Amino acid sequence: MKRIALITSGGDAPGMNACLRAIVKTCLNKEIVPVGYYNGYQGMMEDEYKEMNSLDVKNIIQYGGTILGTARSQEFRTKEGRAKAIENIRKNNIDGFICIGGDGSFKGAQALSEEMSIPVIGIPGTIDNDMYGTDRTIGFDTALNTVVEAVDKIKDTAGSHRRIFLVEVMGRDAGFIALDGAISSGAASVLIPEERSNIQLLAEELKTQSKRKGNLIVIVAEGDDAGGAEDIYQKLLPLMEGFELRYTILGHVQRGGRPSAFDRLMATLMGVYAVELLENGKSDVMIGAKGDELHTISLQDAVNNKAEAEVSKLNAIKLLKTVN
Ligand code: F6P
Repeated sequence: MKRIALITSGGDAPGMNACLRAIVKTCLNKEIVPVGYYNGYQGMMEDEYKEMNSLDVKNIIQYGGTILGTARSQEFRTKEGRAKAIENIRKNNIDGFICIGGDGSFKGAQALSEEMSIPVIGIPGTIDNDMYGTDRTIGFDTALNTVVEAVDKIKDTAGSHRRIFLVEVMGRDAGFIALDGAISSGAASVLIPEERSNIQLLAEELKTQSKRKGNLIVIVAEGDDAGGAEDIYQKLLPLMEGFELRYTILGHVQRGGRPSAFDRLMATLMGVYAVELLENGKSDVMIGAKGDELHTISLQDAVNNKAEAEVSKLNAIKLLKTVN
């Protein structure tokens, strides 16, 4: 292993920089050249890269975003697009590849590995936490903390006005942020894609609970089957006359900010491990975390299975509703 290519791909996530730092420093300590491609697969196709040194990753562990940039490349999904990347990878004598990203990014990595037989390691990085084979993805913990902080603020105004607030959080296909965000912010209810939503029932429950408590928070995952916070607000209005409803969409604020200690720690350990795996001849695996322990799972299993938020946690929300 002499030259390892690395990219950040898909939606950025706090902790990606910590991971890049770990990969670059580990490579340098092992006399491997880390080749960072800019803007994910786009940079690979356009041959935009930098042979990275320790100055490139100095003082970045604490910052959100990614110093390499990222993209969701449509062109790379095509065989022609990948052929351009393969030509550049060969020209640059790359003999290993580390991809930090989510599901879509790993599908690209898998295709690349099949078409040019290059050893590939995936590191799960997405605020959504929707990767099969790992308890946590890089960025999820920070995003969750951002959500909780925002909801705390909304609760101040909701309480003053005795209003019911629908707060939309990210999670296109999965309700991890919504579910854990709802429990940790003391929300009255949560709507997630993993569970069919019943708006009529929600309205009844909110009316009962609001009579007791006044202000209430409902967390809505953006990918819920009943729609986002605005759709649900529109559906609730005619069912809840006399109650004051508002909705807030947290949006991309959830993707930025200083990574939490947890995300920095996990990202760093995963970065070091990825280089070690390549050095030991491993390929086509994603690194996963179970508690404090890191493990590997085949990229194929990681992308062919769907990660779903634990619906059983909804029980906690039911048992925590206000009853007197
Ligand atoms: O990275 C995951 C995610 O944040 C999803 O939760 C969200 O639906 C999506 O990215 C938004 O993507 P974009 O920033 O490309 O609009």
